[in-house]
Amino acid sequence: MPGDLERGRQKIEWARTHMPILEEVRRRFEHEQPFRGLTLSLVLHVEAKTAALALALKAGGADVHLAAGNPLSTDDDPVAALREAGVHTHAVKGESIEEYRAGIRAMWTADPDVIIDDGADLVALIHSEGRRRGRIRGSTEETTTGVTRLRALERSKTMLFPAIDVNDADMKHLFDNRYGTGQSTIDGILTATNLLLAGKVAVVAGYGWCGKGVAARLHGLGAEVVVTEIDPVRAIEARLDGFQVRPMLEAARRADLIVTVTGSTRVVRTEHFQVLKDGCLLANSGHFDVEVSRADLEGLALAHRPVRPHVEEYRFADGRRCYLLGEGRLINLAAGQGHPVEIMDLSFALQALSAEHVARHGLDMEPKVYPVPREIDQAVARGSLPNFGAAVDTPTPEQTAYAASWQGGT
Ligand code: ADE
Repeated sequence: MPGDLERGRQKIEWARTHMPILEEVRRRFEHEQPFRGLTLSLVLHVEAKTAALALALKAGGADVHLAAGNPLSTDDDPVAALREAGVHTHAVKGESIEEYRAGIRAMWTADPDVIIDDGADLVALIHSEGRRRGRIRGSTEETTTGVTRLRALERSKTMLFPAIDVNDADMKHLFDNRYGTGQSTIDGILTATNLLLAGKVAVVAGYGWCGKGVAARLHGLGAEVVVTEIDPVRAIEARLDGFQVRPMLEAARRADLIVTVTGSTRVVRTEHFQVLKDGCLLANSGHFDVEVSRADLEGLALAHRPVRPHVEEYRFADGRRCYLLGEGRLINLAAGQGHPVEIMDLSFALQALSAEHVARHGLDMEPKVYPVPREIDQAVARGSLPNFGAAVDTPTPEQTAYAASWQGGT
């Protein structure tokens, strides 16, 4: 049996083999050394695909520090391989909240020039300290939740350095949030439970890009999908995509499975636990573990006990049971292996190129939230075409002239 280090190397090699865009970026970085002399601090879910990103940045000359974006999302094997490769890694699967916070703090004390964040935890820590900017040229952000936090900082005019919103790049949210979260959430639920989804009533809370992906995949596996929403536009979108749309209190009565992907808090709480059917599964795929209220569950249940890895049974006074998966933390990483490799190739190629942009231009940028430069998004899209077996037409001169004739028209 290979040990941690060998398994870690094998997992990273598998990821790199299926991340051709990031590999191309890595080869250019190796040649051009855009991060020479710079320190990069990364707070990300630490697993093989993330290791491929860290190694690409290191190949570009960076001194790379990496901490876990969640106490449960680390895969320990790639950590061993990263440490051996000289990436300073602070992450252990199942670490305590104190260890997790210490890891993020270590990313701050590493005195980074560039930050790559997932959920804006490191940026929030730095801003909460209210300290001077130090050497930081800027940050890049992976998630919807993180961008929401960055926008709040921007509005309060207290932002200390610029940030690039990787989440909203086309080549990120259209694929990572929808197809990545869609598939990996199912991976986590199935790994945790080994149960059948066909014929089950599956409630998906939230119909953003992630919710759309989860609902589509549950439907594809034969579940009857009910969506809950607070936004009327998204509710209608879900309805016209063919799903039932009901309030949570009504949906919870019928649910065999509830998956939260809202980015909000206490979406499933006491009033919903009171009406659940016996045996209902509860999973969260949102960034923070606040969508299914564990405190309410513990307040209402008479007892709880682990029944399988990643599954806790809660028993209520009337004998009903429900099952919380992955402690209510993002199930795709707590129990599953995270997003599929080809999806993270897109997201992490964008991250690597956005980090390069910050390294080269951050000192001249205002402390604001910036979109990913369009050339970067387009380059990742074009580079991906052959990998996904797609090819596009080139506009004829007539079509180019026709499109130009509309520019600025009404
Ligand atoms: N693997 C590494 N980072 C991830 C992320 N943000 N979401 C899902 N899987 C991941």
